[in-house]
Amino acid sequence: MAIEIGIENDPRPKDEVQRVLKDAKETYDKMEEDKKEFFDQERLWNPYSDTRFLYGDPDTKVKELLWGIDVTPGEIAVADRLREKGQNISGVVCHHPIGLAKVPFPQVISMQCDMYHSAGVPINIAEGLINPRISEVSRAVMASNYNQTTDCARLLDIPLFNVHTPADNCCQKFLDSLFEKENPKYVGDIIDLLMTLPEYRIASKQNSPPEIIHGNRKGRAGRIISKMTGGTSGPKEIFEKLAHAGVGTVVGMHFPDSHIDEAKKYNINVVIAGHMSSDSLGINLISDRWEKKGIKVAPFSGVIRVSRN
Ligand SMILES: [Fe+2]
Ligand SMILES: [Fe+2]
Repeated sequence: MAIEIGIENDPRPKDEVQRVLKDAKETYDKMEEDKKEFFDQERLWNPYSDTRFLYGDPDTKVKELLWGIDVTPGEIAVADRLREKGQNISGVVCHHPIGLAKVPFPQVISMQCDMYHSAGVPINIAEGLINPRISEVSRAVMASNYNQTTDCARLLDIPLFNVHTPADNCCQKFLDSLFEKENPKYVGDIIDLLMTLPEYRIASKQNSPPEIIHGNRKGRAGRIISKMTGGTSGPKEIFEKLAHAGVGTVVGMHFPDSHIDEAKKYNINVVIAGHMSSDSLGINLISDRWEKKGIKVAPFSGVIRVSRN
């Protein structure tokens, strides 16, 4: 269901999402028989490299899931304690990529090509900037101890999977539709609009409100794009191209300083909506669909659970 919802809300044209699955199938079909055991079969039906079943029988019946933004061995121990105390926890869900999803996760960054293309950046330029960024992030994750949490889930026999881009897609689509409908004129109006959503209100009470990082409340927002999905931060050079494409304001979960410096250079307003709040918004939109099927979702590890059912 999470994959289906992710595809429904994907910012790419539908045929681009299908192309990921088609490419995987072609790669698999062309593989020599003795290499096929190394092919991740989940690629044949799941177009998100950063979302995977990690431990447990996929046919496990589910009543209640614990969903966290980062799941470490600590969260697995908490899930086990809660089970011991009688809470009926069927499994744990993590948002950020871990386990099988960790090393291949940078492949989803390629979706940013289409995101920036739809913002007006020529596709060849978007691809030219994003491909080296995918290689850079890929080299960084190669060093990770990717299975640390999965190993704990195995030892304590707690089913575990992670859902990253499908949830971030939901957040992005939700905010894009909201900005399109309400058409905020000033940068301050974007903040006010975010503050109508419970995730941002709750995060604000936790001292993590949406903030204008570059620009001011009375400045004109111009054309607004949100950057909530696409794996992680893209290349900083994209800000120059976005300015030329006519983008006035970028709203994101978080940005590194190097990106903010570029945005300043090209007079693009930057709104940081908040990381935990924005991740929670996407997680909530998927959890609501599960909830309708009778699955309870309990939040932990940073998730601010709000049901819209
Ligand atoms: Fe996220
Ligand atoms: Fe995140």
